[in-house]
Amino acid sequence: MIDLVLRNATIVTPTGLVNGDLGILGGKIYKIGKVTEKFAREKDCSGLFILPGAIDMHVHFRDPGFPAKEDFGTGSAAAAFGGVTTVFDMPNTNPPTLTIKALEEKRKIAAAKSHVNFGLYMGLAQDNLEEINLAHGIAGVKAFMGSTTGNLLVCDLNVYEKLFELGKFVIVHAEDEHVIKENTKKYAGTENTSVHSLIRSPKAAYQAVKTILHLAKKYNARVHVTHLSTELEVEELRKFKSEKVTADCTTHHLYLTQAAYAERGNFVKVNPPLRTNDDRQALWKGLKEGLLQAVTTDHAPHTKAEKEQPYSLAPSGVPGVETLLPLLLESVNHGELTLRDVAQFTSTNPAALLRIKGKGKIEAGYDADLAIVDMSKEMTVGQNGYKTKCGWSPYSGWRLKGWPVVTVIEGNIVCENGELNAKFRGREVTYES
Ligand code: NCD
Ligand code: ZN
Ligand code: ZN
Repeated sequence: MIDLVLRNATIVTPTGLVNGDLGILGGKIYKIGKVTEKFAREKDCSGLFILPGAIDMHVHFRDPGFPAKEDFGTGSAAAAFGGVTTVFDMPNTNPPTLTIKALEEKRKIAAAKSHVNFGLYMGLAQDNLEEINLAHGIAGVKAFMGSTTGNLLVCDLNVYEKLFELGKFVIVHAEDEHVIKENTKKYAGTENTSVHSLIRSPKAAYQAVKTILHLAKKYNARVHVTHLSTELEVEELRKFKSEKVTADCTTHHLYLTQAAYAERGNFVKVNPPLRTNDDRQALWKGLKEGLLQAVTTDHAPHTKAEKEQPYSLAPSGVPGVETLLPLLLESVNHGELTLRDVAQFTSTNPAALLRIKGKGKIEAGYDADLAIVDMSKEMTVGQNGYKTKCGWSPYSGWRLKGWPVVTVIEGNIVCENGELNAKFRGREVTYES
């Protein structure tokens, strides 16, 4: 007996669009096309498209430690509304996820509160390689080469060499601390947010990427550079093209440029900073060429009060997990992307990079994690408020066409037309060895 049949949809599969039904049995995709069998539940999806649920490789849900900004419940509710069915949470919480004890504490929090599936990264510190080596079931290790929110900066390359010897998936925030420090001195006293792109210059990003890619090559390590922001980095990546070296960019670097500082000030203060339109175009090109494989959000909420402080005091980071799919779907409606591209960048590729078991594709046998979207639904970002606790978005007021309307996780309808099934809890993902 089939648990749920989604009927009359257009289904985005790895081999193309299929018009028909999607049958779900025991939480897994059972059949795509024509489903004639008897079923327990049925849902008509005429006029709607079914994508594999988005997998966001980079979120900060601030739990434990910063409940005023976000917690795992609110962050994951925002994800569910946005058609994001799995999130990977970063270690710059309080306590930071640097030890097995802290990892287990976060696991309990996420299991108790999360409305979507999740995976966890451990953070790299000067002295925690032993803990990293002994940890089980982590997505990988997050390393901060430049200072940002939290206190997890590691500049010592010897530590990176030892980390690479462990053979884990390493996801890197690549900005050169030395360059940032120099520029901070140079621009001290300037309280205009646009100075952020000068302090954290393209050179800062490029230098760090160059350094880490050289080291990755030496150790044949699996290194993923997150939130690429400049053309210089894309070109550096091209030189090192290898299956082991991968990268993503965020929606804010794809849709915003440094021109946004004038209008939104610290509400678009983010690390790495916003860049020029040429840089933005280079990211799009890099994605299309496969140099970058994934789009992430780097969902990094801070309170309005924190952002309303002067530039030098306001923390960096913007929320994004609710707007990942709406932004990309708007681009599909403009003919700049296909739905298959969206499935690749937000689900299939992240699942492959992180070696997640059973997710990332609409194919028989895979988990039924799905984002059902209405490509003709038009809405203004923020018109119905936000699910993220911070309560704002760098895209507030943007009119977008193409929105997730139903989110399914392992066959369960978790969110439908603005209603969250508050009882459902996601699970921690597992990995191929
Ligand atoms: C992130 C945060 O606030 O946690 N901030 C940001 O500007 N991106 C940290 C990070 O990813 O650098
Ligand atoms: Zn970062
Ligand atoms: Zn981040």
